[in-house]
Amino acid sequence: MLIIFGASGDLTARKLVPALFNLYKGKHLPENFVVLGASRSDMSDEVFRKKVVQESKFLKEKISKEESSYIEEFADKLYYQDLGKEYDTDYSMLANRIAHLNEEKGCEGNYIFYLSTPPSLYEVIAKNLCEAGLTKEDNGWKRIIVEKPFGYSLETAKELNEGLHKYFNEQQVYRIDHYLGKETVQNLLVTRFSNSIFEPTWNRRYIHHVEITNAETVGVEKRGGYYDKSGALRDMFQSHLLQILSLIVMEPPINASAEEIRDEKVKALKSLRIMTDEKVLATHTMKGQYVASTINGEKVKGYREEEGVDPESKTETFAAIKFFVDNWRWKDVPFYVRTAKYMPTKVTEVVIHFKSPAHEVFKSHDAYQKDNKLIIRIQPDEGILIKFGVKVPGLGFNVEQANLDFYYSDLDSAQVMDAYERLLLDAMQGDATLYARADEVEAAWRFVDPILKYWENEDVPTYGYAAGTWGPRNSDEMFEGHFGWRNPGKR
Ligand code: BG6
Repeated sequence: MLIIFGASGDLTARKLVPALFNLYKGKHLPENFVVLGASRSDMSDEVFRKKVVQESKFLKEKISKEESSYIEEFADKLYYQDLGKEYDTDYSMLANRIAHLNEEKGCEGNYIFYLSTPPSLYEVIAKNLCEAGLTKEDNGWKRIIVEKPFGYSLETAKELNEGLHKYFNEQQVYRIDHYLGKETVQNLLVTRFSNSIFEPTWNRRYIHHVEITNAETVGVEKRGGYYDKSGALRDMFQSHLLQILSLIVMEPPINASAEEIRDEKVKALKSLRIMTDEKVLATHTMKGQYVASTINGEKVKGYREEEGVDPESKTETFAAIKFFVDNWRWKDVPFYVRTAKYMPTKVTEVVIHFKSPAHEVFKSHDAYQKDNKLIIRIQPDEGILIKFGVKVPGLGFNVEQANLDFYYSDLDSAQVMDAYERLLLDAMQGDATLYARADEVEAAWRFVDPILKYWENEDVPTYGYAAGTWGPRNSDEMFEGHFGWRNPGKR
């Protein structure tokens, strides 16, 4: 049974129910599977079903005519339980409902509690579940899934972990990071560790620098209130981007088990050089904020004019960080990571820039044009591109770049599963490989915390950039050389 706390909220309708529907359609769910929504809203089972299934615009987008027959069947699997005014209450009503459904539907006593609520409620909900006897594993397993943000700082992340660990052991806790559910993020592991052509060059001898860009074409939309307290570094970098980074940096795991992979990711995160020196922080970090602009003829508000945002806010909607990894493999290789709202295109990509050949026989006017690059396109146009030098046909030995490319869409089996589908199924099967472990989250915060503290200083500039552009004009300066950000789109 999947019990969703905060079931009247947006995530349930937008992501969870459509993912469950697809799993149901694909016959991935057990026959006696039940979803029990729980929240503070007063709703009947029928109203809940209407809201998240029959009248849901998110589900409509996913259903073809032929599939509409599944809808009623699927809706019958959904139930709802009102928790009353507070989440901090006696859950015996909930426990009774669960017991009743178990009996009626012949469920096995395996429960996943999905907490789609603010993190401040995680410990409270875990405590009440425990007090209602719902966490005992004597009649089936019990797991808890929590959504990001996992804390607001290292200290709060630790508190959150300690709070959950009072009632669930770490093996029962699944911290969801939807980027790990993306096919292309998982493919980073396969690209690296299933191909003998990449691994020998995946180190400081051959790699000049590594670049990650995460760009969105929207602003903060209706989430100004949340975002203004969070900012790009907390919202994207600490979680999604450091997850991607750990897969690039990690050593080969000894096998594909969840613990072995996560052990290596933790080691990778622990080897990030923590920046505390203000001079280093000043040249290696940059924050920016979008200002009003016109995109495709349409006027766009500046960040400070957005609803829920403080008109004097210094919260970043653009964050760029340069850093080093202190280990044998990566010594002296700079990593550049940037993330921003309102950029010209939506894209997430990793670019591995290889060094020039040790001895250059064929000179090129522009080294950047000639150096090999491995571009891993996380989204959209999922795929991999290798840029390599070829001889320009004709006289002489002039070099230009050509592309070797692979697109997921070219695969016959290119049905890319939605991140939530894959992750929910993994949690049901007890596979935590694609979930963040407590020590992983804390290692990521350990690196991010000093940057956030430094950015709180009044005199750290927040550079403006026009919405729809590639960020502050001076953002290339952190490269200190002839390289600058590769603005994706240029294939
Ligand atoms: C979320 C962030 O975790 O990820 C959002 O809170 C962001 O601000 C979103 O827009 C991006 O996800 P995706 O899958 O669209 O890249």
